[in-house]
Amino acid sequence: MLRSTLLAAARSTGARKLVESTPFTRPVVDRFIAGEDVDAAIRATGALVADGRTVTLDHLGEDTLDAEQADATVAAYGELLSRLDTAGYADRAEVSVKLSAVGRSLAEDGEKIALENARRICSAAEAVGTTVTLDMEDHTTTDSTLDVLRELRVDFPWVGAVLQAYLKRTEQDCRDLAHAGSRVRLCKGAYQEPASVAFQDKADVDLSYVRCLKVLMAGEGYPMVASHDPRMIAIAADLAGTRPLDGYEFQMLYGIRPEEQKRIAAAGNTMRVYLPYGDEWYGYFMRRLAERPANVAFFLRSLVTT
Ligand code: FDA
Repeated sequence: MLRSTLLAAARSTGARKLVESTPFTRPVVDRFIAGEDVDAAIRATGALVADGRTVTLDHLGEDTLDAEQADATVAAYGELLSRLDTAGYADRAEVSVKLSAVGRSLAEDGEKIALENARRICSAAEAVGTTVTLDMEDHTTTDSTLDVLRELRVDFPWVGAVLQAYLKRTEQDCRDLAHAGSRVRLCKGAYQEPASVAFQDKADVDLSYVRCLKVLMAGEGYPMVASHDPRMIAIAADLAGTRPLDGYEFQMLYGIRPEEQKRIAAAGNTMRVYLPYGDEWYGYFMRRLAERPANVAFFLRSLVTT
């Protein structure tokens, strides 16, 4: 109930104005978001790299409804990639992109524009020697994201994508993407989805996650295990079997279970942190609150005590 309310609020302009205008929101937001500008993102990347973690950076933004803003997002990724290169982090940090931030929701030719914009980001990433992973948004966009992935991979075979275990289709998508050279970031899924397409019970989502992990770990691609769930992490390590440590990786979100992130990295695994930055933090922040009632309590406490 709380989760659906928060996820509905994540899409509401009224709720957005309210949350953004509350000055006390900031300390809670700062736990999950590295800062509003590229300088902050580079600083946070440096700190993570310094203790052995790797990074994927997300220039925050989604549901862009005008072409200029989509262009500005592409330019922001260009600047970010060049700054990562200059700072010497391009071999430890890649970028994550939401297609809705680069134009997919535009009324006319949205998907085509998003594909071209994603191509521009991929070219910039290739120029500095790093990679791009496509985030996955709500289920109405899954086919479109996988179509764009296929197109991009013709020129940039290293492009990866996220799959969401809560969707009933995902086990089959994992089979389709378990081929050599493929990079799949498997997560549970963060949007509000109907029962017709998505498992609703946490236990069913977890079972699906394990089935998907089995397919990816048995395949020839590069599995990216994106979860904070200790059970999923232990099962993934077990299923990895004889895969070399550089044959798969673990991933977590910035600000969540940082000590566990360090422990996994110190054990010799690749541990990549998803690091969001920018001023369009609202949707991302609300999905993080929805994942965990304790975060809402933390947020409410800060409203009362600050
Ligand atoms: P689960 O939610 O069951 O949590 C397991 C445990 O982890 C909790 O008991 C708690 O200890 C800890 N935890 C989880 N969330 C927490 C939080 N917000 N705050 C504090 N502790 C928390 N989703 C999506 O739909 N599309 C996408 O593209 C991506 N991309 C993505 C990239 C990466 C690298 C990660 C790690 C996650 C995503 N996600 C995502 C989000 C994902 O779908 C999911 O919502 C969260 O990762 C939470 O699910 P867990 O697997 O962590 O398990």
